[in-house]
Amino acid sequence: MSEDLWTPHALSDPELAIPERGAAGSVTLVIPTFNEAGNIAELLGRLADALPAHLPCEVLFVDDSTDDTPAVIEKAALDLPFPVAVLHRESADGGLGGAVVEGVKRADTDWIVVMDADLQHPPHLVPELVGEGERTGADLVVASRYLPGGSRAGLAGNYRIAVSRGATWLTKGLFPRALRGISDPMSGFFAVRRAVFTADALKPLGYKILLELAVRCRPAEVAEVPFVFQDRHSGESKSGLREGMRFLAHLAALRSAAPLARMIGFGLIGLSGFVPNLFALWLLTHAGMHYLPAEIAANQAGVLWNFALIEGLLFRDRRRHRHWADRVGRFALLANADLLLRIPLIALFVARFGMQVLPATALALVTTFVLRFAATEALVYLPRKTRTARTTRS
Ligand code: GDD
Ligand code: MN
Repeated sequence: MSEDLWTPHALSDPELAIPERGAAGSVTLVIPTFNEAGNIAELLGRLADALPAHLPCEVLFVDDSTDDTPAVIEKAALDLPFPVAVLHRESADGGLGGAVVEGVKRADTDWIVVMDADLQHPPHLVPELVGEGERTGADLVVASRYLPGGSRAGLAGNYRIAVSRGATWLTKGLFPRALRGISDPMSGFFAVRRAVFTADALKPLGYKILLELAVRCRPAEVAEVPFVFQDRHSGESKSGLREGMRFLAHLAALRSAAPLARMIGFGLIGLSGFVPNLFALWLLTHAGMHYLPAEIAANQAGVLWNFALIEGLLFRDRRRHRHWADRVGRFALLANADLLLRIPLIALFVARFGMQVLPATALALVTTFVLRFAATEALVYLPRKTRTARTTRS
């Protein structure tokens, strides 16, 4: 990825107070932008009005725009009382979430405030978020639309409001402990102490960077401040159906980070594979195929279904180590070996250990399931040993 961290001339102006790095209460505003040229002047103007002179503050835009947003920022930044920088990324890795993580990696102030560029997040709340954190000792202060005094005024239409509420309930239900004290885990407006933000642990997918932070970094103390989600100042939202799908995949990835949870997910996906398996069997036998070859072919339909879900939901971040054809081949081999292994295993349990057929079959099912899960992790999704050893040595 080629990047280019640009700082306007204003920064080298000796007249301008540049905040002392790491000074108490110092703040970096990380603002992700994707084609927001129409919002920059208004945003920076309102920030200049809102930020008290004693608050050491700098603004870092992380930009993936294809329009002239960086040039607009450069122009608007010249007469501001705080430093402004733009990190323009050539490839928008990780989208909005990836942009925020890039910004966080570069910040070395006490606090980081993440906010949108479209003025849906009121700039006058920035000092309040940090102030609330300083006052209460909280590590994370979330601007919430669900507290008394907050609202979703700017969320266009009943449909979006319903989707947003449903997503919030689902998320809170999946992560009751990590999200305790956070009424609005979907908020994109929050202040967090730099020390909490272990950027290396973050693998955000799309928009929900606060969720990622709360689940992976587990800030000890959380506070909230109500806010009214405003209408977009200019331009249009970049979130849509695709973002919704990424959100579900993100939830699955976060929820299945622990090995036991991943094994349960693996089992549930395996069970769901019966549906395409039986459907394919029905199709093939109705088309006149003998049931034995049809069984074998139909099993492959289940295998492909399982593979697609396991790739998309469970091992999303571990796919890079092998080519997809390699992964699908290994996966299918293991899944079919599972069937072959089951019969001799049942025979062993019955003949050698004197078990009844039903418990022997159940035990064989569980055994091959656990074996297959372990083998899939180790043989399909684990980084290749020889390769990593070589690269770390060099
Ligand atoms: N760098 C970068 N790269 N910035 C991006 C990208 C990207 O790929 N996609 C969007 N952004 C920037 C936008 O320019 C804007 O400043 C901010 O991220 C939010 O994008 P919007 O497209 O305006 O999002 P939204 O209004 O639909 O969603 C906002 O509200 C949601 C709550 O309803 C975001 O704050 C979400 O995080 C939040 O959940
Ligand atoms: Mn927006």
